[in-house]
Amino acid sequence: MRFEGKVAVITGGAQGMGRTFGEALVREGALVGILDIDPVAGAEAAAALREIGGQAHFATCDVADENSVDLAVADVVSALGGVDFLVNCAAKHLTYYNRPPTVLPRDDWRVLLEVNVIGIVNCAAACRPSMQSRGGGVIINLSSIASFALNGAYGISKLAVRGLTVALAQEFAIDSVRVCGIAPGLVDTPSAISDIPADYANMLIHERQLVKRLGRVQDLVGALFFLCSEDAAFVTGETLIVGGGYPLRA
Ligand SMILES: NC(=O)c1ccc[n+]([C@@H]2O[C@H](COP(=O)([O-])OP(=O)(O)OC[C@H]3O[C@@H](n4cnc5c(N)ncnc54)[C@H](O)[C@@H]3O)[C@@H](O)[C@H]2O)c1
Repeated sequence: MRFEGKVAVITGGAQGMGRTFGEALVREGALVGILDIDPVAGAEAAAALREIGGQAHFATCDVADENSVDLAVADVVSALGGVDFLVNCAAKHLTYYNRPPTVLPRDDWRVLLEVNVIGIVNCAAACRPSMQSRGGGVIINLSSIASFALNGAYGISKLAVRGLTVALAQEFAIDSVRVCGIAPGLVDTPSAISDIPADYANMLIHERQLVKRLGRVQDLVGALFFLCSEDAAFVTGETLIVGGGYPLRA
């Protein structure tokens, strides 16, 4: 029970990584607040956490909408008592959004940046007062190895997430809030698998990665636990790549 009594807010917690993270944190004693734009899947995910004995609360919100985030975080704080961890998973990430910069329509660019980047700003700002009152906290931002390849708009949004991780770490240090990132490689969430062409996935695995298999959400749980825990008390502003060895950096 590594996180007994800690409250974790997970954006995009209705499915994929966020949903698995919620389950993993509940099994370690955390209380979980799910924020998601999908009311049906979000309520179902919170119910599933309660079924395994966890304390969980769901609040619908669009992370790109500041007011909606403020209301949802207030709802979670009143239901679960506060916020210790914020895990920012919610994002636009289909290959559609990784078109070259001048090919992606401008309106889609704006939506991408509003959700993937401003969404994190909104959630961090909304959770900060509760973290302050509890003497600190941890924010984990999901970036991507696409932020190193930089072949399209999505990768640029995830490079901004890495930059934001550094800037928020500096801004929130005064409150003993650490801010870190995880940059996953290709991971077998249903949305990614149904979206990424199989030949591209195979090329990535066999020609770029050193570990020759698809990533699993479970591969990310250890990174999440480490970064949230006191073991990482001296780590902030860093983004940890969990991508089977791609890309290697000196
Ligand atoms: N799956 C991968 O291979 C992969 C690789 C690298 C990085 N990532 C990143 O990891 C994170 C999670 O990926 P995933 O595959 O689990 O995603 P997913 O599509 O399975 O889940 C995303 C969740 O976010 C919610 N969401 C989307 N827009 C929202 C909004 N505006 N407000 C609130 N909720 C919203 C969705 O309803 C969904 O429940 C994302 O940030 C993604 O960019 C994923």
